[in-house]
Amino acid sequence: MNYAIILAAGRGNRMNMDIPKCAVPLLGKPMISYIIDELKDVVDETYVVLGYKEDRFGFINDEVKIAYQKEQLGSADACRCASNNIKDNGFTIIIPGDVPLVDRHLLGSLINKHINNKLDLTILTNIKDNPKGYGRIIRNSNNRIIKITEDIECNEEELKIKEINSGIMCIDNRYLQLLDLIANDNKKGEYYLTDIVNLMKDYNIDSYSTMEDIRLQGVNNLYELNILEEYLRNKINDELIKNGVMLENKSTITISKDSIISKGVIIKQGSYIINSIIKTNVVIGPNSQIINSYIDENTIINQSVISDSKINKGCMIGPFSHIRNNSNIGNNNRIGNFVEIKNSNIDDNTKASHLAYIGDTICGKNVNIGCGVITINYDGKKKSQTIIGDNSFIGCNSNLIAPINIGKHAFVAASTTLTESIGDYDFVISRSNPLIKKGYAKKYE
Ligand code: UD1
Ligand code: CA
Repeated sequence: MNYAIILAAGRGNRMNMDIPKCAVPLLGKPMISYIIDELKDVVDETYVVLGYKEDRFGFINDEVKIAYQKEQLGSADACRCASNNIKDNGFTIIIPGDVPLVDRHLLGSLINKHINNKLDLTILTNIKDNPKGYGRIIRNSNNRIIKITEDIECNEEELKIKEINSGIMCIDNRYLQLLDLIANDNKKGEYYLTDIVNLMKDYNIDSYSTMEDIRLQGVNNLYELNILEEYLRNKINDELIKNGVMLENKSTITISKDSIISKGVIIKQGSYIINSIIKTNVVIGPNSQIINSYIDENTIINQSVISDSKINKGCMIGPFSHIRNNSNIGNNNRIGNFVEIKNSNIDDNTKASHLAYIGDTICGKNVNIGCGVITINYDGKKKSQTIIGDNSFIGCNSNLIAPINIGKHAFVAASTTLTESIGDYDFVISRSNPLIKKGYAKKYE
């Protein structure tokens, strides 16, 4: 079998972030997820080595196996945590979790060279004008690779070498056991994975060298993350424009790689779309945020935030709406200014045009939800459901105290606080009579 081992146990000190480096998002998606996706078609099984704050990797599903490195003693030690499980023939690709743009074509070429040339170890390398920070490929007078020297261990001469180690290598499974022989007598006191090269210098070693600089760019700090972010943003946006998506002020727009945007969509400046599907003739923005959501044809999302939800055809959402937690908004709805909808299902042709909170609600068709309506779904301990029947009218400033069921064609007069359910065609009003004192206001003049 053929394997991959992704090293992601390190903290990433140079990032200055609380979250472990390989879980840091690049355009809304954790860096390591890009690598996991690319490896799917390349190897039979992938191991991910986790350690520092492994609980922050909950997004990884069980398509890959997890190995744990208790203490971060170096990349060779991390690798061993997974390779101890690999006993059969084949090869293993070892790959750091901070090289998110490496792709299946490049990995495929590395593997082809490894197999076709019957190599024991094949290192993915690159020539860099500025090799600072990378391990250098050291060759003997016959041009054979004899070792890799880490940047901080390099002498004057070695520092001038521009051929660098991408951190990605393909090794015959038989030689994974050599990882046990690596020592940590170096400046950092770490077990360097790269020391395996010197241990194997009399074996069949070669490099696969690529010109695709950006694909091998490692992310060790926020500046390097930014380089990749800009590259990827431009690439995704330019491709969408070519496919007939209009982007207004494109450098201000972020769209994740896994979003699917149809031809004819207009996206206005400042919008942010992550892992979402947007169908034709939708207008998004300016300044809208759409995360894990589906927006159907002819809908407008103006200055609003939509997450984990579906908005159907012909809706007008916003400005300043917040729709979240598995909400489903039917066709031709009008969800207006400062309306929040949470975990609710709203049928077609319903309006909630101003200042409302709708939570844990099932609402029918042709309902009018007035300005200031609140579904009171939380009593401090548990959440309860509100049901509103088709064609009902909920007047302004009404409080619906859940659990509650409002029948079809019902009428809740403005300002009612409703504590019990009402049936079809029922009318309800609860309002204290105003006290009017004729001319009394003169006193305050
Ligand atoms: C590494 C290579 C270097 C190469 C560069 C390419 C080594 C020793 N050096 O350096 O030759 O040019 O990548 O980008 O491999 N990790 C663990 N456990 C540990 C230590 C590290 O899992 O104990 C993981 C990290 O989470 C990271 C990866 O290994 O994803 C690489 O570690 P990093 O510190 O980024 O290595 P570099 O200094 O970039
Ligand atoms: Ca790195």
